[in-house]
Amino acid sequence: MKKKFSGLINNKINKFNKILEKIPSDKSCSIRALIFASVCIGKSEIKNLLESEDVLDCVHALKTLGVKIVKTNNGIYEVYGNGLSSFKTDKKIKIWLGNSGTLSRILSGILATQPGGKYHLYGDKSMNRRDMSRIITPLEKIGAFFYPKGKKTLPLTIEGTNLPLAQKHIENLGSAQVKSSLLASFLSCQGISTIHEPIPSRDHTEILLKRIGADIKIKKLKKGNLISLKGQKNLHAFKYKVGNDPSSSAYLIALALLTPKSKITIHNCLLNKKRSGFYKILKEQAGANIKIINQKKSAENGELVGSIVAKNSFLRPFNCSKAVIPSLIDELPILFVIAALTKGTSKFTHIYELTKKESNRIEEMRKVLIQAGIKCKTSKNSMIIYGKNKLKIKNKSIVVNTQGDHRICMSSAILSLVTGIRAKIKNFETVNTSFPGFITIIKNLGGKIVIK
Ligand code: S3P
Repeated sequence: MKKKFSGLINNKINKFNKILEKIPSDKSCSIRALIFASVCIGKSEIKNLLESEDVLDCVHALKTLGVKIVKTNNGIYEVYGNGLSSFKTDKKIKIWLGNSGTLSRILSGILATQPGGKYHLYGDKSMNRRDMSRIITPLEKIGAFFYPKGKKTLPLTIEGTNLPLAQKHIENLGSAQVKSSLLASFLSCQGISTIHEPIPSRDHTEILLKRIGADIKIKKLKKGNLISLKGQKNLHAFKYKVGNDPSSSAYLIALALLTPKSKITIHNCLLNKKRSGFYKILKEQAGANIKIINQKKSAENGELVGSIVAKNSFLRPFNCSKAVIPSLIDELPILFVIAALTKGTSKFTHIYELTKKESNRIEEMRKVLIQAGIKCKTSKNSMIIYGKNKLKIKNKSIVVNTQGDHRICMSSAILSLVTGIRAKIKNFETVNTSFPGFITIIKNLGGKIVIK
């Protein structure tokens, strides 16, 4: 049982000026590196793996499936892959997926084409309410079976097929998890499978699969990309170093932008173009003083990486609509906080996917902002925020039920640290799913979160 605790914030953070070399590594890339290493042939070595709960649940799930994973004395994770379709199949295996949508969906893609295996997949309360039909429908077309029939959420049992059929899929949700789940199963399909993504989502999987020898091609279309993958090819074991997480960085960047006379520099951050909408919108629309420097393609992971420098800025309201949403999907809760503290009206549309995350993030953030005295209008698909740059905080406090959602937790903490509004944030332990050390880093910057 995880130890539960609340985080109490009673004071505003003071001005700070810090350079951070290391913040937690990227969650999406850590999970992908582990899963794909497990179906390569030979020993892969992963440096800087994020040791958060979601990622450690992934390590545990793969070990349960018979994959040997060893952490060396210098912190490298060695994954001994045995190739495609090499997981244990001897009996029905129970696999704990914790809180992780990425793990649940991508691993299901691999299991869908594991012949002879029956796997019972289950997660925590938040994971068990999340939609799995988005991958069940296309994976059933490939040939996998899911039980009970017609159920759309975990717990579920998946039975892999020994005759996986190549598919053509159109990915209309803008979901990198769905795309990656299908690519994972295409690895075992005979012939060429394709995915058309009208609005491209993060392409960590495509970058990694290219590096490890998969026969994958990406063609730019008028609307989005066409990804083709020819399956049944052996994949090479690899060496990989995970970069710093841009989604975790976003909280620290927001803190610097909103705290008078403050500045922060975060080095070696992943800057995947399809995931950098937060920085783009803030720079281009809100007028934020953010500079991206030392950009290069990293030889260690094939991704674009660089340093982010952000200074306290006078911000203008901003709008986020359909085309940019996948590139800032995880940053929307913290963008809501920035919009709330920026004078004027900011609008967010086509954000229905937010209701499908670890919590309904539109609803949970609305509850937080309303308590702080910020007016906002929400629908299933949109949010309008009437921001203020001065909040009345005297005798005011907020109570946040995080609903097991790390991003609601961290966004509320930043709101409180910037404004000084007193906050009691329940189930603060949820930060450990993606950002272990959040409280310590905030302390390094001069902020105080009391654990109770
Ligand atoms: C992720 C994709 C996004 C994101 C999630 C991580 C990934 O989810 O919200 O935190 O690693 O591919 P969707 O694919 O559901 O949009």
